[in-house]
This record gives sequence, C-alpha cells and structure tokens, in this order.
Amino acid sequence: MLTKQHITYLKQRGDMDISALISSQRDVKSINFILESLGYLPENFNPDFLYQLLKHKNPQVRLNAVKNIGKLNGKSDTESLLELYRNEMDTSVRREIVSAVGRQKKQNNKSLLISFLQDNDPKIVCQAIRGLLVFENDKKIESHLRQFINHPNEMVRTIIYKEYFSKEAKKQTSLPHTETYDFLKNVVVNADVLEALRVVPNESVHLTFTSPPYYNARDYSIYPSYQAYLEFLEKVFKETYRITKEGRFLIVNTSPIIIPRISRAHSSKRYGIPFDLHPHLIKNGWEFIDDIVWLKPEASVKNRIGGFMQHRKPLGYKPNSVTEYLMVYRKSTEKLLDWNIRSYDHETVKKSKVTDGYEITNVWKIDPCFDKVHSAVFPVELCKRVIQYYSYKGDLIFDPFAGSGTVGRTAKLLNRLFFLTEKEPKYFEYMKSKIKSQNFSDKREPRFFNLERFKEEIKSTATGLRPLA
Ligand SMILES: C[S@@+](CC[C@H](N)C(=O)[O-])C[C@H]1O[C@@H](n2cnc3c(N)ncnc32)[C@H](O)[C@@H]1O
Repeated sequence: MLTKQHITYLKQRGDMDISALISSQRDVKSINFILESLGYLPENFNPDFLYQLLKHKNPQVRLNAVKNIGKLNGKSDTESLLELYRNEMDTSVRREIVSAVGRQKKQNNKSLLISFLQDNDPKIVCQAIRGLLVFENDKKIESHLRQFINHPNEMVRTIIYKEYFSKEAKKQTSLPHTETYDFLKNVVVNADVLEALRVVPNESVHLTFTSPPYYNARDYSIYPSYQAYLEFLEKVFKETYRITKEGRFLIVNTSPIIIPRISRAHSSKRYGIPFDLHPHLIKNGWEFIDDIVWLKPEASVKNRIGGFMQHRKPLGYKPNSVTEYLMVYRKSTEKLLDWNIRSYDHETVKKSKVTDGYEITNVWKIDPCFDKVHSAVFPVELCKRVIQYYSYKGDLIFDPFAGSGTVGRTAKLLNRLFFLTEKEPKYFEYMKSKIKSQNFSDKREPRFFNLERFKEEIKSTATGLRPLA
C-alpha cells in the first residue's frame, strides 16, 4: 500500500525510485497521491520524470507535475513550462505554470512574466504580477505594473493599489483606531445630517446603524422624485464613509415600499429601495458583506393577500411582506478584519465577546415595535444584535436618521457611545425626553445641540481639525 512515509523514504534514497514507482502505477489517483506527497525536493533531485508527466492526459497529474517543478525554483526548465502553457486548456495548470516561472526569480524571465499579463484569465494576471513584484527595485517593471490600476478586473486593481498606491494615500487621521473625539461622544444634533456631517472629522465613527426615510411613504419626508431620494441617500452614505474608521461597518435597514394608487384608475407603485440603493453604496467604496433578513410575525404586517384570497386569480397575487433587509457593508481596506480586532486591548475584547444565544443564520425573527410618537422605530432587540455583533465596548455608534433615538439608547445600554442626527424638531425633543429618562450612571452625560451649537462645540475643542463649513 502507498503511504507518505514510504514515498518520503524512496525520495531520500534517490529519485529514480520515485520515477519507477510512478511508472508502475495503473491509476491516476495513485500518481497524484505520490506527487502530492513529495514535499521538499532535495538539491540533487532528478526531475526528468516530472517533465515527462507534463504530457500526461490527466490535468490533475499535469498540475501536480508543474507544482513539483515549481519547487526546483531557479533550476526548473522554463522552456518546457512555456511549451505546456501555450497548449494547455486547463486554467489551474496554466496558473501553476505562471507561478512556477515566477518562483524561479530569474532576471531572464521578466519579459516572459510581462507577456503573461496579457492573459485573459485575471487569476493568471495576478499570478504574473506576484512573480514580477519579486523584482522590487526595478523601475521599468514598476512603471509597467502601475498602469494596471485601471485594469478591468477588480482583483488585479486591488493588488496594484495595495502595492503602489495605498502607501501614497494620505493618512486620514492621527487618532488611534479604537479612539474617537470627545465632541462626538453621546451627542445628538438636531439638523439635516448632511449639514451636521460637514464639520465631523474623517474616520471618527466605528459603526453606523440606521434606517433611512422610506422615500415618500411616510409623512416625515418628501422628495421630489425617487432619483432625488436615492441621490440624497448616496450623499449621506458617502459622507458616512468618510467619517467611518478603516474597515468598519455600515448597516442599513430598508425594505421595498409601496406608494398607494391615487385613484382606482391607477396602480400603486412599488419601489425596491434596498436593491436600488445598493449600487449607490458600492460606487462610493462600501464593500458588500451580508444581507440579513429581519422576519416579522405575520400578524404584525399589513394584509395585502386579502383580495387574492377571495378571487385566486393568477397575476393578482400579492404576498404579505413580513421581511425587511439589513444590508451589511464594510469600509474598504486592504487590511483583514483581524487587524481591526487586534487594535483593541485584551480586556475590551474579552468584555465585548458575544454571549450565547446569538443568531446563527441571516434570518432574524424579531417582533416590530410600535411607538405613540414616531411611526417607524427600531425594536431594541434588533439594535442590540447589530451593536453587539458589529462593535466593541467603548466604540462610537452613529445613526444619521435617529428618529426616536433607539440606536443611541441601546448603544448606551451596551456600554458603547453614540452620535446621532435628526432633522425633525419634534423627534429631537422626543428623543431628548427618552434618552434623558434613561439612567446615565457614568460621567458622559448626553448632550443635545442645534447645528450652530454643535459647530461652536467642535470649533472650541477642535480648531484646525477640518475647516468649518
Ligand atoms: C425611519 S426613521 C428612523 C427611526 C429610528 N430608527 C428609531 O428607532 O426611532 C427616519 C428618520 O430620519 C429623519 N430624517 C429624514 N431626513 C433627514 C435628514 N436629512 N437629516 C436627519 N434626519 C432626517 C426623519 O425625521 C425620521 O425620524
């Protein structure tokens, strides 16, 4: 029976044994097992049989042969690899060939690697870039690769950006990742969000959770057109992007809405807000991460199916909408999530750990909440989940459309800080009464400002941070 130990033993005795072992195999599976078990190849390894296997009819065998040839580094035969590359149809094998050529790190291979950049397969282009990046101080290669910042493929652009452009991008803030500005901590501003954000410095919030106005479906917001509404939200989330810390999250709660018909001669119109808003967010750098579905009990939603229940005529089917979306986005960064997490001290990470009973799927069953003053408030349960899963204790949570301030109150409850904006004075006053009635045991009392007072506050504590509007 073939074992790894036996293969290692034969390899150490001399490669002719391996070659003979492969020739004696009848099935492809065993050949692949041998090739995959070879591991490190010693200096005096004779690779002739590997080059023979480049002609094997099974692509997995060819792939494993190329992989092993790649381990020979500078000693591998570029010509044989190139010949295979020209005729090979299997993309994994082609990619492995480019990788093997790259690993040779030979000056003579530079033009060959450059020619691989013209390949139609973006993964091959990425592999060729990796091979070329080995020649660190080669200005010619650098100027060639920099042009790939405009490559049609996003993976290629990301590598080039990370390698050549991100270091040049101006540092946005001098604040440590876990810190924020005192003038934003537990602050509520009664103003149009765009006005308020004009004076907020870059990279100051850790998480945004919000539910924007539902186009013209409720009386608190009227927009001249759906396009104008989407453009307004684009501006808000573009600014939110600017004030969000690197790699942190934005969670937007929306759902399709219906604008009722004006008479029996017209139809009502449905707007797919989450789907229409999505491209406006992506366009401005937000990276799509997840779609969470908030599932409500059937009895809590408007009955639309009633008519159909009577007539049962196809096309007239209108299901009751028991869901809303929580679209999860992340501010783009080349750093992994682990970098964000490691910014926190051990104690904060420990205290912020999510306890048992957390959601394990992207469907969250939560009862909606009804309020006597505001017609569309978040259930505290929903806020709790989002804040616990997407922030650490001490973080600053932002809600641009704060309404009755549920995000702020829940943030406080979970030992986070909040920064809220709300345009309507009546909701601002309502929020004030609700937040104030909550017991604030620590010294950071909530503060409520109009736009002018907010600007003054920032000016007095942060002159020079960012020119005031
Ligand atoms: C869907 S409600 C949010 C309710 C909130 N999640 C809560 O739990 O109470 C949207 C809120 O955005 C506010 N709003 C609309 N346009 C705004 C703007 N330009 N700036 C700030 N707030 C705005 C509305 O007055 C409304 O209270």
